[in-house]
Amino acid sequence: MKIKTAIACVVVSIVLMAFAEKGGSLFHVPAGWPVPHYDFAKNKLTQEKVDLGRLLFYDPILSRDSTISCESCHSRFVAFTHVDHALSHGINDRIGKRNAPALMNLAWQRSFMWDGAINHLDMQALAPITNALEMDEQLPNVLEKLRTQSRYRFMFERAYGDTTISTEGMLRAISSFMVTLVSSNSKYDQVKRGEANFTRQEENGYALFLMHCNACHTEPLFTNGEFSRNGLAQDAVLQDLGRFAVTLQPEDSFLFKVPTLRNIAYSKPYMHDGRMKRLSDVLKHYASLHGQGVHMNNTLDQLPSFSSEQQVDITSFLLTLSDSTFVMNPAFSYPREIIASLTKESN
Ligand code: HEC
Ligand code: HEC
Repeated sequence: MKIKTAIACVVVSIVLMAFAEKGGSLFHVPAGWPVPHYDFAKNKLTQEKVDLGRLLFYDPILSRDSTISCESCHSRFVAFTHVDHALSHGINDRIGKRNAPALMNLAWQRSFMWDGAINHLDMQALAPITNALEMDEQLPNVLEKLRTQSRYRFMFERAYGDTTISTEGMLRAISSFMVTLVSSNSKYDQVKRGEANFTRQEENGYALFLMHCNACHTEPLFTNGEFSRNGLAQDAVLQDLGRFAVTLQPEDSFLFKVPTLRNIAYSKPYMHDGRMKRLSDVLKHYASLHGQGVHMNNTLDQLPSFSSEQQVDITSFLLTLSDSTFVMNPAFSYPREIIASLTKESN
């Protein structure tokens, strides 16, 4: 390592550590939550990798014409989903095939994408980078572009101890940032910790939720991680076969991953194709399943025809899953302070 680089490394590290300390520890398992699925032994979490991953997540350099970053479709203020788009919009405004999921608590997730096509978080970023409707870039080009930038040579060296910029290093850094996106400070969590109380309406909604929704949207993650049908009519336009595309088992047709309901107030529109704009649409949908008996799913077939009052109660409970400290967390924002400290060093 050249002396100048070594000194710069120390200076930037001190500046960034000062920021990191304000944000608290990188990752912790909230009380009462299960053991994460992500194997931290294979990708040890360090502030340096998280910083690099955050820089990459917000950098359109990963797309063919440097216009689209991960953040284009996964914005912090809406719990890392796509602002107001039913289907994601990628390069040249090409319309994708599905609604961008909100990103949080990914370390507990066993499979990714609405159909579970990806089973390891470290592989996830490859999909949008190479998808023609999203970032439309090729991996060798991405690596080449990163290698031409001193800021990336520097950040890779800081994260991995040498200037080699490899696919693996890039993917692990992006994962490192993504696993830090933990949301566990909603009103619901505060109630569970004894720091707040539900209103009577929220309490009623919670009771209904436990009875009718929790089998699939299981607390504390608000998903059981399984694939399921929730009684939506098939979409005539997209004809998305869901899980079938992965397993090729006919019984898996139209199954989609049960999405988390945490931060649901931020992450509209809803469902894999974004067909529902409001939570009230979702509640009306579930209430309409009553007595249909066509879903071959006991939980769904036994749903009552929720009264409008019950729908409002459930909605008020769902709103307690909003975690404003998550969407406002400066550690997850555009990495202005990292970029500023890097620019200062290279001048
Ligand atoms: C053009 C919009 C777009 C861009 C850009 C994009 N994504 Fe996504 N992302 C999506 C969509 C749509 C899905 C769901 C795809 C599916 O189910 O087939 C998704 C799914 C995901 C998931 C899985 C979440 C889950 O719960 O299953 C992760 C993680 C993710 N994206 C991370 C990233 C990262 C990292 C980048 C940048 C390298 C990125 N995305 C860029 C639209 C986008
Ligand atoms: C049998 C399992 C199951 C049950 C029971 C169930 N859901 Fe769902 N839910 C799903 C699946 C699967 C999806 C995604 C469907 C899709 O996009 O095709 C979903 C989607 C949702 C969404 C949209 C989430 C998003 O990010 O797009 C909300 C909100 C929701 N459910 C709320 C509820 C409520 C409230 C109840 C109880 C009244 C409930 N669910 C009961 C399986 C279930």
